[in-house]
Amino acid sequence: MSPNYLRPAELFDGLRLHQNENTGGCSPKVVEALANMPRDRVGFYPAYKAMEAAAAKYFGVDQDHLVLTNGLDEGIMALSVACLRPKPGGPVPEAVIPEPTFEIYNVDTDVAGGREVTVPPAPDFAFPLDAVLAAITPATRVAFLTNPNNPTGQMLSKADVKAVAKAVPPEAIVFLDEAYAEFAGETFIPELPQFPNVIVGRTFSKAFGLAGLRVGALIGDPDRLAPIVRAIPVYSVSVAAATALPAALEDGAYLDDYLRQVKESKALLYKACDTLGLTYWKSGGNFVLVRIGDRSKDVIAALAAKKIYIRDRSNDAGCAGCVRIATGQVAHTQQLIAALEEVLCAAR
Ligand SMILES: Cc1ncc(COP(=O)(O)O)c(C=O)c1O
Repeated sequence: MSPNYLRPAELFDGLRLHQNENTGGCSPKVVEALANMPRDRVGFYPAYKAMEAAAAKYFGVDQDHLVLTNGLDEGIMALSVACLRPKPGGPVPEAVIPEPTFEIYNVDTDVAGGREVTVPPAPDFAFPLDAVLAAITPATRVAFLTNPNNPTGQMLSKADVKAVAKAVPPEAIVFLDEAYAEFAGETFIPELPQFPNVIVGRTFSKAFGLAGLRVGALIGDPDRLAPIVRAIPVYSVSVAAATALPAALEDGAYLDDYLRQVKESKALLYKACDTLGLTYWKSGGNFVLVRIGDRSKDVIAALAAKKIYIRDRSNDAGCAGCVRIATGQVAHTQQLIAALEEVLCAAR
């Protein structure tokens, strides 16, 4: 049984680089839309048409190929409930989970009553295709894939996704989590018509900075989505999220500026790691996994004392001594780098 997911401490008094959020928050247009929301809307159950139309346009899919959820977390739970609950007399449904990855897959598999079939990391966290294919059995009902992966930032090729999609049993779903797709600039969505057993997960928490509003999406074949939709409460997305999303999607300039800053931030952090002699993995996301080594916990604590929060990932498979650092606005990354240099030089 996987351990419960423990929410990270509520650290709001400094620089939050530990949850891969948008360090600059959401577009000002979102705040404007929320401020202009008529008061009675809060008293009514939400309307979703405008939000669904805006999201479908953004993803380039028909509306019936999309379901919006209360954060992608809810989508992953609904998918797990729909696909991984044991049926009387049937085998225990299995979920293939290449590690290290987003720990919610393990937790949700467990909660649904399925069995976790974890696949250990390959050198340098390259996608372990052969081991994943070897882990698939007639009882496989979900394969959890993540592109770019969290916490490693490693990319997964479309060819590898297709290979897994062809290998799973006909009733299984390949869940492709693209929470960080905007930063990587690529998506599997155009391939979905040829691979109806793949469901893509997306979130507006990261690039769009809507984590506090909780809105995510599942995209895929309507027949494959239908049993998952049954496991999602009817009004799970709040009126605040429904109001905010169209405004966020309209502000392309805000998104583009943030994507540019994340790219620049990653380059700055890579350079600083080179100078400091730290191993890191080039990331497709808005974060970088860095191996600090034996001192990692001390470094996390020293940065926290300066109110800069980064994430300990040393307990993840293959990640001994590693931390994960969000790379958001350039000014924030510069602040982190200056503090990291200070802390590491003091420790020498
Ligand atoms: C890979 C991955 N999937 C899903 C999520 C959850 O996103 P949401 O905030 O939409 O629930 C996260 C959040 O960190 C993530 O890293």
